Amino acid sequence: MSKSLVASHSQGKHEPDKIFGVNAAANEKAKMVGKENIVNASIGAFLDANGELITLPTVEKTMYSLDFKDVAAYAPIAGLPDFIKAAIDVTFAEFKPDAYIDGVATPGGSGAIHHAIWNYTEVGDTYLTSDWYWGPYRTMAREMGRKIDTFVTFDENGNFNLKACLEKVQELARVQKNVLLIINSPAHNPTGFSLTFEEWEQLVAGLKELAEKDENNIILFVDIAYLDFTPPGSRKFFKLFSKLPANLLVIVAFSMSKGYTMYGYRTGCMIGISSDKEVIEEFFNVNQYSNRGTWSNGTRSGMRCLVELWKNPELMDQVKKEREEFRLSLEDRAKTFLDEAKKVGLEVCPYHSGFFITVPTTKSDEIAFKLQDDNIFIVPLARGLRIAICAIPSEKIAGMATKIKEAKDLLGG
Ligand SMILES: Cc1ncc(COP(=O)(O)O)c(C=O)c1O
Repeated sequence: MSKSLVASHSQGKHEPDKIFGVNAAANEKAKMVGKENIVNASIGAFLDANGELITLPTVEKTMYSLDFKDVAAYAPIAGLPDFIKAAIDVTFAEFKPDAYIDGVATPGGSGAIHHAIWNYTEVGDTYLTSDWYWGPYRTMAREMGRKIDTFVTFDENGNFNLKACLEKVQELARVQKNVLLIINSPAHNPTGFSLTFEEWEQLVAGLKELAEKDENNIILFVDIAYLDFTPPGSRKFFKLFSKLPANLLVIVAFSMSKGYTMYGYRTGCMIGISSDKEVIEEFFNVNQYSNRGTWSNGTRSGMRCLVELWKNPELMDQVKKEREEFRLSLEDRAKTFLDEAKKVGLEVCPYHSGFFITVPTTKSDEIAFKLQDDNIFIVPLARGLRIAICAIPSEKIAGMATKIKEAKDLLGG
């Protein structure tokens, strides 16, 4: 038996980083065939044609305009008060719910997910999400002694499977007091799927009905990591979080990682929405406490940068303009892939917007490996291939769907 020093709850914690592995393989091959001949669709960040990180120039300029003595200081444990106000403002825009709302700064959306799981479920509890989901939702379950369960994401028409979702929620509500449901929309990772406004309406109505029985607490966690790269009108659903029952708490995770190209600054805000003042006071207190009990305070420069942009509408307008250019480029990249996929008959998960497109398959490892012969590098997931269209320009996307279809036909799955 190999030697282990860790406590029993940490035994066997290990997760090989698939993205890192695929990226490393792409870089190795590039040394042989030249970078220009490599299609590296593994990285989940916006990259230009040279594979360099795209950043928003106005965000960069604003960040470097900050006084170092100011940003080098600690931030308050809950975050700078103006940052929390700004985060709430930029998240909801004109669709702010009619409710009590407060926020606590977290290191990106990840910090918000962590605190929601920790503070709103018991040790040993289960929480729910769709069966296509971002892997760290499961990592966090293991990390915090929780379990994760899923519902089938899509119905037979490729719409959000409301029935499956609500059935799972009801099932869990029979055995657990608190039911935490994580919905990653709009621009879901890894599929690019978004709930329509009508689907949101039905989901909220279903959760409300359950909450009104007054036997459970329902916590709806909305992961909006990619919200800023969705078409205009994508914020409308936030209004549905107005005047909900006091035992139905909504938490929205604002993150500066993608929308402001500040991935490594680890800046975000966990925003609580409730019709009940006490629920929101408690939300603020427990999550502030958890900040102190985990990573202490967040990145002051990231918070200050948002405040600076928020206080200067011309700067914020500039950021929006720059971002819109990237959003349109993403739309163009997606169209290139999806049109070709349709033409060659390659099945893809329903895509609306966002950084990734997913091809469902049971042979993801084999197909991803085979595609490396064609200099195409994509990340195999348990049930599909995740194509990071954010990481490759349109010119390199052309031809990809055909190659994937050929590999899929050859290997099956
Ligand atoms: C679906 C989803 N949620 C949350 C996050 C968290 O990102 P961050 O913690 O950088 O905000 C990511 C990042 O990749 C993501 O894809």
